[in-house]
Amino acid sequence: MERFYFDHNATTPVALAVIDALVPVLREGFGNASSIHQPGQQAKQILERARRQVAAFLNCSPKEIVFTSGGTESDNLAIFGVNGHIVTSNIEHPAILAACRDLDVTFVEADSNGLISPDRVRDAIRPNTALVSIMHSNNELGTIQDIEAMAEIAHDAGALFHADGVQAAGKIPVNLKNIDLYTLSGHKLNAPKGIGVLYVRQGVDITPRQYGGRHESGRRAGTENVPGAAALGAACQLERPDLSPLRDRLEQGILAKVPQAVVNGAGAPRVPNTTNIRFAGIEGEAMVIALDLRGFAVSSGAACSSGAVEPSHVLTAIGLTREEAKASIRFSLGLGNTVEQVDALIDAVAASAAHLRRLSPVYA
Ligand SMILES: Cc1ncc(COP(=O)(O)O)c(C=O)c1O
Repeated sequence: MERFYFDHNATTPVALAVIDALVPVLREGFGNASSIHQPGQQAKQILERARRQVAAFLNCSPKEIVFTSGGTESDNLAIFGVNGHIVTSNIEHPAILAACRDLDVTFVEADSNGLISPDRVRDAIRPNTALVSIMHSNNELGTIQDIEAMAEIAHDAGALFHADGVQAAGKIPVNLKNIDLYTLSGHKLNAPKGIGVLYVRQGVDITPRQYGGRHESGRRAGTENVPGAAALGAACQLERPDLSPLRDRLEQGILAKVPQAVVNGAGAPRVPNTTNIRFAGIEGEAMVIALDLRGFAVSSGAACSSGAVEPSHVLTAIGLTREEAKASIRFSLGLGNTVEQVDALIDAVAASAAHLRRLSPVYA
């Protein structure tokens, strides 16, 4: 059976061009980038080239790129890197929410479209606020926040601004002019797992999270993941087609063929690869399994909470009932998806929905 992947917000396949860039580094770039001999210097060169590639992608200076192990570590580095009150939102990824749990924090609530109001952020700021952290795009809904406006508000109050850009970079333009800290994750960008970036604006001082050698200019200790960095550098050079025609085709196709299907967050600006649709009377997990049996990988809620019985915190935060949240499916497109795959997915969703509803005790 052919398999089609529509879960790119969970993780992406490693692109062939990235594998091609990675293999020689694994073979020959094994040196420790801190060693002064030739293999060490070769690794150092590969690392610095990767840093330049990521900096070009973000339109910033290579000095502002700190390589980490992934999005979670970058988010944690931003949150724990400051000292004082934090303002964030109730629809952040657990990498932010769990990090903030025992800190002095105010959670700004998203509206019913999954948008965070800059005015509410302003109201949440206190004299001792050190950081405002708001995700650029939400991993479940794809909603895009006005991070430029919120950065300005944070700066007016003397606070730093961090954006979790894991689900935005590569999908929409990123302008870091006013942003102090910005998170990237390699495996959401067609690089392998285990590599990420925290952009740290020049002049911004953050307290490191782990102690050891003076790697990454003292901001992140630990022998650098040179192959990971090289892979992410190559991923930053990939051409990324606009996925909105495919996403719109998928969304419209499903809405046309499946009665009582509603797009969550439809009233907000959204990244072009994501649609989150709720199907009245259907258990999301059952839909994921039904589609998997037909060869399609999709997700119900966030991957990190799949398997848990609790509905997605993002969907309940925007006002959905537990049942509505559990009846929601996230489709996320990426490199490699085609019109033919989308059309096949629409048919599979329609057939699965009809089948599951016939079995449903709650759908009349
Ligand atoms: C918005 C967001 N932030 C952070 C992360 C965590 O990134 P990583 O898996 O690289 O730790 C994810 C991953 O799902 C995410 O979607």
